[in-house]
Amino acid sequence: MTDRSPTIEDRARAVFTARAHCYVASSSHTDPQVLGWLVELAQPRPSWRMLDVATGAGHTAFAFAPYVDEIIGIDLTPRMLAEAEKLAEQQGVTNVRFVVADIHELPFDDETFDDEQFDLVTCRRAAHHFSGIQEALTEMVRMLKPQGLLLIDDRCVPEDDFVDSVMNRLDWLHDESHVREYRPSQWQAMLEAAGCRVVTLATYIRHRPLTSLTECVSPQNVAQIHGILDSLSPVQRQKLALEEKEGALYSNHWYLLIAAQKIGG
Ligand SMILES: C[S@@+](CC[C@H](N)C(=O)[O-])C[C@H]1O[C@@H](n2cnc3c(N)ncnc32)[C@H](O)[C@@H]1O
Repeated sequence: MTDRSPTIEDRARAVFTARAHCYVASSSHTDPQVLGWLVELAQPRPSWRMLDVATGAGHTAFAFAPYVDEIIGIDLTPRMLAEAEKLAEQQGVTNVRFVVADIHELPFDDETFDDEQFDLVTCRRAAHHFSGIQEALTEMVRMLKPQGLLLIDDRCVPEDDFVDSVMNRLDWLHDESHVREYRPSQWQAMLEAAGCRVVTLATYIRHRPLTSLTECVSPQNVAQIHGILDSLSPVQRQKLALEEKEGALYSNHWYLLIAAQKIGG
């Protein structure tokens, strides 16, 4: 028997299996404002077929379910999809189907994933986990109909070397399956390389408590997160908007929202 080291996908599956319950009612993942922005950007039509990539507990799929015909939600982690199935039943959602799949290795014998099947592909709060982001984007675009819409919502970093490196390190300590949160300029280039025209690219910030980084995390990694924050200079603290409010530490987290259209057709 040959031993192999765990891949990023093995790590993601392990992390999300252990933490699946944390995503069911997570205030960040159920944030109605952000889900509303996505629906507003897409202007979905009742005839549309939608693919929700890395659907997790299904919050994005459920936000679109009243407006489209059919949704396929894929995810690497069966345990997350079990939570999504439960929520679908509780909410009476009947037009969403969940499939276990890795966006880098879609089952080629399943016609669901043939070329140009979908009017809309969404991928929310997940792309920073993908081991091959360019390949993943190319797969998403392959499955879109010509002129179809790709919507991305993800953590990002501003165009600042310090914030880029510290936020990526903190997020890796929060979740060791974290690969990278990208700068807006990198997103623009990756989407163009995947065959899309970026229609909207907007960033937004949430000032979040430190618990959003330390919750469900091992004591060793929590200690490292505190060590990094304690070592920051006043200028660096300011760049993260790190401050104490009502006895708790808060800092900025950066996000981005993209609507991109598949070129061609
Ligand atoms: C934070 S959750 C997603 C949240 C969800 N999209 C939402 O809007 O609430 C991240 C998900 O990405 C999934 N994931 C990570 N890598 C993946 C991959 N390569 N292919 C498919 N899913 C993946 C994880 O299993 C996890 O469920």
